[in-house]
Amino acid sequence: MGITDISILAIESSCDETSASMIVNGKVLNNIVATQSVHENYGGVVPELASRAHQQNLIPVVHQALSSSGITKEQLSAVAVTRGPGLMGSLLVGLSFAKAFAKALDIPLIEVNHMQAHVLAHFIDSPRPSFPFLCLTVSGGHTQLVLVRDYLDMEVIGETLDDAVGEAFDKTAKLLGLPYPGGPLIDRYAKDGDPRKFAFPITRMPGLNYSFSGIKTAVLYFLREKLEANPEFIQENMADLCASIQYSLIEMLLIKLKEAMIQYRITQVAIAGGVSANSGLRMALDALARKKGWQLYIPELEYCTDNAAMIAMAAHYKYLKGDFARLDIAPLAKMKI
Ligand code: KG4
Ligand code: ZN
Repeated sequence: MGITDISILAIESSCDETSASMIVNGKVLNNIVATQSVHENYGGVVPELASRAHQQNLIPVVHQALSSSGITKEQLSAVAVTRGPGLMGSLLVGLSFAKAFAKALDIPLIEVNHMQAHVLAHFIDSPRPSFPFLCLTVSGGHTQLVLVRDYLDMEVIGETLDDAVGEAFDKTAKLLGLPYPGGPLIDRYAKDGDPRKFAFPITRMPGLNYSFSGIKTAVLYFLREKLEANPEFIQENMADLCASIQYSLIEMLLIKLKEAMIQYRITQVAIAGGVSANSGLRMALDALARKKGWQLYIPELEYCTDNAAMIAMAAHYKYLKGDFARLDIAPLAKMKI
């Protein structure tokens, strides 16, 4: 480590993943993630339990990121942290730690927007998209179409007006009696099912916006009626139900994506966020990209779900611009890109 090297420790604690990562001169060295299993029993993330788990996990995770990188605290150029959007209590744990760390070591603090970081996950490994590109960010909390003009110059051109697509996966899965988070299970069952067996609604909102709340109501009423006639209906049709639900959700995502690509004359498309793990979405996007001649970018799964490596990547570009934060900033539950 020379005096000109830029080494940053990054911390992510916006939801239910506690993560730390070391980045040196723009190269991510590691990505330590502690997942919280405590929420499984509750069918969703319990904010207060998430904050407490972050408090327990944060120091071990930071310690591991530092020690496995071989870089000492004294060699750090800056410390970076997610400021928002996310759960207030969870953000507070990471931000308070990062502030104290910056103060004690007398190094700059860098605040990172979690949604911007999801997009910048595409710059951790090669191949990297070039500007401009469009990123479809799909997670448990967000569904956004982001026009990316530069590393730190992004615009949300479309987003969900109610539930996020991951939420739609999880809530419909719950109606099918599947445990939380249900998205990966729907994906698994859907592989053996017929996506055209049941027709669930494909909601079209004006412009490039999305709405995913209609499908859970539609599935609820549909199941109620079917279960009255046959209490075994779900068990007997699990694969077809999952395939049909997944089909509708993917269709909704792709309709607006296609419109956006045409409207903004873009030929490079990227996906980010936990739902980009969905194999149906990956296949459909791959086929669409081939047909349209688009270049498609999908990061490693490790960098799709919440992680500190993407925070580190964003922090590196902010460091280059000298964009540092004051030590009295507050976390933001909602935060624009
Ligand atoms: O980005 P993420 O890890 O956390 C945030 O919400 O920020 O995304 C989690 C979401 C959950 O809703 C989960 O059900 C969904 O991603 N998910 C999937 C799959 N893997 C994760 N949804 C559909 N298919 C999958 N294979
Ligand atoms: Zn996220």
